Amino acid sequence: SVSEMEDRIRKIKESLGDKLFIPGHHYQKNEVIQFADATGDSLQLAQICASNEQAEHIVFCGVHFMAETADILTTPNQTVYLPDMRAGCSMADMADIFQTERAWEHLQERFGDTILPLTYVNSTAAIKAFVGRNGGATVTSSNAKKIVEWAFAQKKRILFLPDQHLGRNTAYDIGVSLDHMAVWNPIANVLEYSGPDDDCEVILWKGHCSVHENFTVENIRHIRENEPDRQIIVHPECPHEVVMQSDDNGSTKYIIDQITAAAPGTKWAIGTEMNLVNRLKEEHKEQDIISLNPLMCPCLTMNRIDLPHLLWCLESIAVGAARNIIAVDSSTSAEANMALDRMLHSPR
Ligand code: 13P
Ligand code: SF4
Repeated sequence: SVSEMEDRIRKIKESLGDKLFIPGHHYQKNEVIQFADATGDSLQLAQICASNEQAEHIVFCGVHFMAETADILTTPNQTVYLPDMRAGCSMADMADIFQTERAWEHLQERFGDTILPLTYVNSTAAIKAFVGRNGGATVTSSNAKKIVEWAFAQKKRILFLPDQHLGRNTAYDIGVSLDHMAVWNPIANVLEYSGPDDDCEVILWKGHCSVHENFTVENIRHIRENEPDRQIIVHPECPHEVVMQSDDNGSTKYIIDQITAAAPGTKWAIGTEMNLVNRLKEEHKEQDIISLNPLMCPCLTMNRIDLPHLLWCLESIAVGAARNIIAVDSSTSAEANMALDRMLHSPR
C-alpha cells in the first residue's frame, strides 16, 4: 500500500542519514517531492549538488539530463541514481551529438570563427561537452540573459541549443531583432534564414519542449476576453508570441517567487508543468490560480518518477545492489564540466 511504501522510504532515509541525498525538481509529483531533501529549479539543483560533499548516494528525482549534471558536478566517490531510467526529456533528445557536429561544420564554413555555442542545461552530457570544448557555456532559464550577454561580449554570433524558444525569448530580451535570428533544422540539415549572412547574430536549434508548446496565444486571448484582471505568467520555454503576450515570464523558481510575493486574491493563469501549477494552487489558497491551458500540461517523463520507483531505487541502495546509476564517462564529464563551470562561476 501507499502508506507501507512511504514508511519504508522513511526508514531507509533514516538509516542512511547524511549518506543519502534526494534532490527534487519542482515538476515532480507530490508523492515524490515529500521525500526530497532539497527542491529547486534546474540552476538551484545543480548548485546544491555541486556543493554537497557528504552524500554518497544522490537519488535524483528529475529527468536524465539533471542526473547527468549532478554526476558531472559531484566527486567520483559520490554516486548518482535516477529512479526510472525512462525519465528522459523530449527536448534534450532533439539535439544529438552527431547532428550537432554536422551543424557546427556547416556553420564554421559559413560564418568562420565568429560563433560561440551555448546550451540549455536541458541537453545531453555529450552536447554539454561539445559546448565546453568550443569555449561556450550552459545556461538555465534563471540565468540565460546573463550568459547570452557574456557570449556576445566574446563573439559576434551564438549557436543556442536545443530550445529555440528559450533562445529566441532571451536574445529578443537583450535587444536582438527577430530578423537577425536563424533556425538550424537538424533533420533537413539546413539553416532557415532569409536575411544577409552578415546580419545573422543568433542561430537557434530547432528544438522545443513538448509541454510548454501546449500554451498558446489562443489560451491567452480567451483569458484576456473573459477575465482581463487575471495575471498571466509563463515559463520562457513557451513560444515567443505567448511570452510576448503574457504579463511576466521566468524559471520555475521565478514563477514560485512571484506567486508567493503577490497580494492575497491575485488572479493568476500559469503556463508551466501541471504538478507545479497544482502544488501552487494547494499551497496558496489565498490566491486564485488556474493553468493557462485548461487541459493542464503534464511532463510525461518527469511523471515517470513515482513512489514505487523511488522506493525500488532506495531499496536497491539499502541492500547494497544499487541499480540505475548515472555515470558520465570521464572525458565527456571533463569537457561538459568546463561548460557548466563557466555558467556556475558567473562569467562576465
Ligand atoms: P527550470 O526549473 O530551470 O525553470 O526548468 C524547467 C524545465 O523544463 C526543466 O526541465
Ligand atoms: Fe524536458 Fe519539457 Fe519535460 Fe522539462 S518540461 S523535462 S524541458 S520535456
